[in-house]
Amino acid sequence: MAAVIIDGKQIAAQMRSELKAEVEKLKQKGIVPGLAVILAGNDPASVSYVTGKHKACQETGIYSDDTRLPADTGREKLLRLIEKFNNDKRIHGILVQLPLPPYLKEQEILFTIRPDKDVDGIHPVSVGKMVAGEDTFLPCTPHGVIELLLRSGVKIDGADVVIVGRSNIVGKPLANMLIQKSKLGNATVTVCHTHTKDLAKHTRRADILIVAAGRAKTITADMVKDGAAVIDVGVNRIEDKTKKAGFRLVGDVDFEQVKEKAGLITPVPGGVGPMTITMLLCNTVKAAKRSAGLLA
Ligand code: GUN
Repeated sequence: MAAVIIDGKQIAAQMRSELKAEVEKLKQKGIVPGLAVILAGNDPASVSYVTGKHKACQETGIYSDDTRLPADTGREKLLRLIEKFNNDKRIHGILVQLPLPPYLKEQEILFTIRPDKDVDGIHPVSVGKMVAGEDTFLPCTPHGVIELLLRSGVKIDGADVVIVGRSNIVGKPLANMLIQKSKLGNATVTVCHTHTKDLAKHTRRADILIVAAGRAKTITADMVKDGAAVIDVGVNRIEDKTKKAGFRLVGDVDFEQVKEKAGLITPVPGGVGPMTITMLLCNTVKAAKRSAGLLA
């Protein structure tokens, strides 16, 4: 039977409208949540993400500062800019878009962000708290994946989850969040990667299969259990001369095949993507409330 298509756009729109109402209430108390996004370079996918973040802030009533820097921006200039936002009372959240140009040391740059403004959930302090199960900013894409599952009625508690991909942004934090003793977790998790022997042996066992491998058609129908929930985090550009841009976006899952086998599946675009930005907005509002003493 054909799978239920999880509509990330619609779920994200619902969450954003709830958030907009919350921002409105905060504004009545004189609090305007503020987000600073920094992009160094002009990687086309990053430009598109950053533009999307800025637009989403405007739609939700969040103040946003969108700084674009040339690809050859020096280390000192970038660190000074982060320090400026660290000390700016209008800014509650800071996000440095990754990947950075190759000569910049990612860890050093991310370390400079004040942990109480780390709405990306990527600073080592945030990561440590997440692993220890303490309250912190959760990284946006993994948190968005979990929200999509919960809001689609998928039971995570006790499920066999298989994650394909072990990146710092998706695979590793997702595995950690899903094993926590919490309403977002209690799953049994396997993480597969490029050195996994017989990938299909693992993926076929999954009640929930989450794919963040960065390669189109990594998952075909024969690799999926009947009725599984399949979440596709991949975003790959493939040439398509029929499109004005000359390309179209596809995920890591062979959607046309797998939708005939899975119970639920996310499309690309329109699945996980809109949720990532939504969770960033949620974290920014949380940061603003916390800085105003409205959260414990
Ligand atoms: N680039 C792609 N995804 C992300 C993300 O979640 N955070 C940051 N900072 N950069 C990204």
